[in-house]
Amino acid sequence: MEHSKEFEKLVTDIKPNIKEISVAETLERVENGAMLIDVREDNEWDAEHASGAEHIGRGVIERDIVWKHPDKDKELILYCGGGYRSALAADNLQKMGYTNVYSMIGGWTAWKERMQAEKDSARERTKEIAESFLEKGDATGWFDALYKEAEGNNEKIPWADLEPNKYFVEFAEKTNLQGADRNALVIGCGLGDDARYLHDLGFKVTAFDISPTAIEWARKLHHETDINFLIADLFDAPKQWFQAFDFVLEVYTIQPLPMEMRPQVIDAIANFVKFQGKLVVVTRGREDDEIPPELPWALSRKDLSRFEENGFEQINFKEMPGDEEPPIPRFVVEYFKQ
Ligand SMILES: C[S@@+](CC[C@H](N)C(=O)[O-])C[C@H]1O[C@@H](n2cnc3c(N)ncnc32)[C@H](O)[C@@H]1O
Repeated sequence: MEHSKEFEKLVTDIKPNIKEISVAETLERVENGAMLIDVREDNEWDAEHASGAEHIGRGVIERDIVWKHPDKDKELILYCGGGYRSALAADNLQKMGYTNVYSMIGGWTAWKERMQAEKDSARERTKEIAESFLEKGDATGWFDALYKEAEGNNEKIPWADLEPNKYFVEFAEKTNLQGADRNALVIGCGLGDDARYLHDLGFKVTAFDISPTAIEWARKLHHETDINFLIADLFDAPKQWFQAFDFVLEVYTIQPLPMEMRPQVIDAIANFVKFQGKLVVVTRGREDDEIPPELPWALSRKDLSRFEENGFEQINFKEMPGDEEPPIPRFVVEYFKQ
């Protein structure tokens, strides 16, 4: 929204009284214990917000701050959409006796730009690592190298946002998916957030990944659950898993493996599902006649038809737009094993 000059003057007048910091400095301070507070409206917060932030809208912050943060020396960093409303809120908190309040320069807009830049650089680095392994004919070694290099920072892993896959969650909510103690297998589980989601829905979950580093990380993140996180290779999985699972979930494991391996990958995944069991595949999608330009190589409907050749009936196919610019479609496909 365009600012009136009266509003801009109001903010300019109080700016000398407050302290402002950049997004980079905010991230550092939050890491060291500062509290990040989103002062935007409820609808802005609901649409998206910084992870780890607390929401105290500008309309109520003076009323509620003392109850929520009684320590007036606590480091509080306020952000809004562009750094104006948070400046006004910071001024008021200082007047109330808070000594360590900051307003984040550029607000949510600057935060998002920074996150996008970090994502882009994580993607670039991922491609570099993947290419160096693929050149040597090693299709899977790069995953562990990437997890290792991340040293516990999930932002360095392009797919790891510590949340269950949102396209799968949408599918699960729409179909009212319930575990009811059925057993589930998660393919290439990475840091285990989809496994955790299935666990919370009441499934008995086994989740595996070829990367020992990812599995160690997933075990730590979800240590309070009884999810069975295991190091295993899809192409050399324990025999007792064959035709053994009521529900199998595959999210984004087919697409980063070389296209020529696709039939082999699909056959291996299909093999884990019990007679009359279900399989859900979440993947980047493309048209049959489109050639995916780069890793990860999106799947076409024709690629997916290999599941039908493995005795599955497709019972649900949903195409959703991805949230990148320009959006890459996502397919969420549900199969029933006949
Ligand atoms: C793009 S990531 C997706 C991870 C996770 N499903 C997610 O969506 O966050 C692909 C995952 O598959 C794992 N992976 C690749 N090849 C595998 C194989 N042959 N067997 C088991 N896991 C494999 C990788 O280590 C990686 O964690």
